[in-house]
Amino acid sequence: MGLTLAQKIIKAHLLSGEMTPGADVGLRIDQTLTQDATGTMAYLEFEAMGVPRVKTERSVAYIDHNTLQTGFENADDHRYIQTVAKKHGIYFSRPGNGICHQVHLERFGIPGKTLIGSDSHTPTGGGIGMLSFGAGGLDVAVAMGGGEYHIAMPTMTKIVLTGALSPWVSAKDIILEVLRRMSVKGGVGKIIEYGGEGIRTLTVPERATITNMGTELGATTSIFPSDDITRAFLAAQGREADWTALSSDDDAVYDEIIEIDLSTLEPLAACPHSPDAVKPVSALSDIKVDQVCIGSCTNSSYLDLMRVASILKGKTVHPTVSLAIAPGSKQVYNMLAKNGALADIIASGARILECACGPCIGMGQSPNSAGVSLRTFNRNFEGRSGTADGQVYLVSPETAAASALTGVFTDPRTLEGWEKIEMPEHFLINDNMVVEPAPEYLSETVDVLRGPNIKPFPVSKPLPESITTKAILKVGDNITTDHIMPAGAKILPYRSNIPYLSNFCFGVCDKTFPERCKAEGSGIIIGGANYGQGSSREHAALVPLYLGIKAVVAKSYARIHCANLANAGILALKFKDEADYDRIDQMDTLTLPDIRAAIQNKTPIILRDETKGIEMEVIPMMTDRERAMVVEGGLLNYTKSLSK
Ligand code: F3S
Repeated sequence: MGLTLAQKIIKAHLLSGEMTPGADVGLRIDQTLTQDATGTMAYLEFEAMGVPRVKTERSVAYIDHNTLQTGFENADDHRYIQTVAKKHGIYFSRPGNGICHQVHLERFGIPGKTLIGSDSHTPTGGGIGMLSFGAGGLDVAVAMGGGEYHIAMPTMTKIVLTGALSPWVSAKDIILEVLRRMSVKGGVGKIIEYGGEGIRTLTVPERATITNMGTELGATTSIFPSDDITRAFLAAQGREADWTALSSDDDAVYDEIIEIDLSTLEPLAACPHSPDAVKPVSALSDIKVDQVCIGSCTNSSYLDLMRVASILKGKTVHPTVSLAIAPGSKQVYNMLAKNGALADIIASGARILECACGPCIGMGQSPNSAGVSLRTFNRNFEGRSGTADGQVYLVSPETAAASALTGVFTDPRTLEGWEKIEMPEHFLINDNMVVEPAPEYLSETVDVLRGPNIKPFPVSKPLPESITTKAILKVGDNITTDHIMPAGAKILPYRSNIPYLSNFCFGVCDKTFPERCKAEGSGIIIGGANYGQGSSREHAALVPLYLGIKAVVAKSYARIHCANLANAGILALKFKDEADYDRIDQMDTLTLPDIRAAIQNKTPIILRDETKGIEMEVIPMMTDRERAMVVEGGLLNYTKSLSK
């Protein structure tokens, strides 16, 4: 039986486990990336492992999230990351060089390699035929130290693209159509591979837009084959030598096949507040628009911004709309500057932001109260924009630019003068904002510079025999990592200061939660369905760990968050009978009797509600390795215990 493309790459990197769906597999990781918001912690963790040089083929530290510097904190973090990278063999992409996924695609990604990144949109690398995963910072630290990266072996879904897109319809509309069909839970436990003759009409940046938002499907990752189009992209980046042809076998077997005829698609928008609340733009045409933001790791490529420039050329942004544009990388920005497209954008009245995540991570540009914001980004969770009642719609660059001109939701097909934007034969290559690491023989001479905001990360204790504590918080369905540990300009500078961050944990749900945790000293969180969806933010596990959270008991979980809980040494448990969720009230006293033995021996786990005098069974959401990890008190303790 033939293999799918993803199965081939997994097979070539398999260090432990069997490739049967659901089984725990350990992979060799060729490349890692970090962004600064999660990176500081990843490098503190890497340092704690005591490994002098990274063991990966290529590791890159990007600064793209916290680039607003209103105090010393960000600057200290950047300096820490730059010096720790230099010492340990990691490339450093300076602030202003661009968004991690965009730059990695341009300058570092290689078809057929494995990549993990401490950012949930790392699957962007699938656009170039890499098998790339969003992971916790701790996983990245372990991979940099030469350790395995573990996943549950996914099932394989193929999305067959036929036909070609109509003018004004773009790659964003393809992934929005996939989200409409599959929902934000539809990709859980799956690798999504794209194929069919329609992929030949899509360039690498367009493919990367699609794999980027595979994260919103909950997919383990998404991937395109590496073909002549990939080769042309790498050649234009001066990296043709990195190319290899990669595809699935003709007789590969998929668990699910979905067909999309590209010629039938129309411009789409994901409505507030979920990326799968998708409607045709034509059905939204009477909605007034207050703000338009173009950029992010989803839609900030050279092609995207050239399309935007061609729409804006010779026109003026509507007087009641604020249009902000952030190019994805210095390469993109520089090329637009050289070919004159930037002048067209500036002349239209757009506000140019630096090459960074910017408004996508709530770093400025919050919409006005109840404002309607059209964004080319990948997420529109409530409050993420920084405006609690902001109404964020996710759209293509074409829809965004058209609407910025008219002041209302505008189907770009109503515009005239569509022009095909060709991929350049040569991108403008200038890596002068990528700092190389010190040669190994000089590593010891490099001092790692730390500021007062950089505090050690919390390390969990080994799992006790039994746990008795309070149901310190009860929350509903679809709790995101933004709910657990909010982002935003006020908080982001403190990513390396867990004690400070703990004051904001679950602040949008229950402001007194941190206080209660501190008073009780420990607790268990009761969650609904899809707990922890949204991002790889390991702070959403580390901050609860700091506050004494011993376990989460929920109806179901998002994959990455579940892994992050295990990494932190927090038990992720699922109600065997979902109806038991209703039987527990906040502040009930709960006991997990003989929990250590139950986790070690794989015997049933009982949760006792002492207040109600009832018992229920809960299921551990852990692989065998994660069980061992939780018993030791998290991944770091576990990795140390293995090396003893
Ligand atoms: Fe940055 Fe937003 Fe992507 S925060 S990495 S642009 S999802």
